[in-house]
Amino acid sequence: MLEAHLKEIIRDIPDFPQPGIIFKDITPVLKDQALCSQIVDAFVDRLGHMEIDVIAGIESRGFLFGMMLANRLNVPFIPIRKQGKLPFKTISESYKLEYGQATIEVHEDAFPAGTKVLLHDDLLATGGTVVAASKLIQKLGGTIAGYSFVISLDFLNSQGRLTRFSEDIISLVR
Ligand code: PRP
Ligand code: MG
Repeated sequence: MLEAHLKEIIRDIPDFPQPGIIFKDITPVLKDQALCSQIVDAFVDRLGHMEIDVIAGIESRGFLFGMMLANRLNVPFIPIRKQGKLPFKTISESYKLEYGQATIEVHEDAFPAGTKVLLHDDLLATGGTVVAASKLIQKLGGTIAGYSFVISLDFLNSQGRLTRFSEDIISLVR
């Protein structure tokens, strides 16, 4: 089963990047191209009825499977980036991380109003990152068709923070 296999392969790194944080390292997954394909297949299976015009991925680890999935679904990919990285006119949102504070941005012409966006990231922890990204998408007039994560840390109970944007939350490893 994919979830059990991923749980074996994803590596826990204690006290990174700060004491008390257990970092979920997905780089061993990225080294296994067959497993990466299975992950994309699993996302596609679970998208079901979801209508998606574009996939937005959050820098940096959300770019990895976000782009693979966009390519598979044959839809555009929209990068949501950390402050100061996008070259054209941007809008921004600040948020609190599990460790520290951050600002993310998207190009103001990323997609037209009314676009249905699948928001992708590798990991859902507190939900701060993806809530900020959801606000960016709404500011541009987009709607959140759903969310996809490789991993969600369900003990943090953050899925409830997302349901006001969309009830469709896919997570391969809980
Ligand atoms: C990590 C992870 C998610 C976010 C989840 O990214 O990739 O994007 O934190 O945390 P949250 O749900 O508590 O907001 P990070 O900011 O460490 O950067 P990276 O993806 O560039 O490694
Ligand atoms: Mg990230």
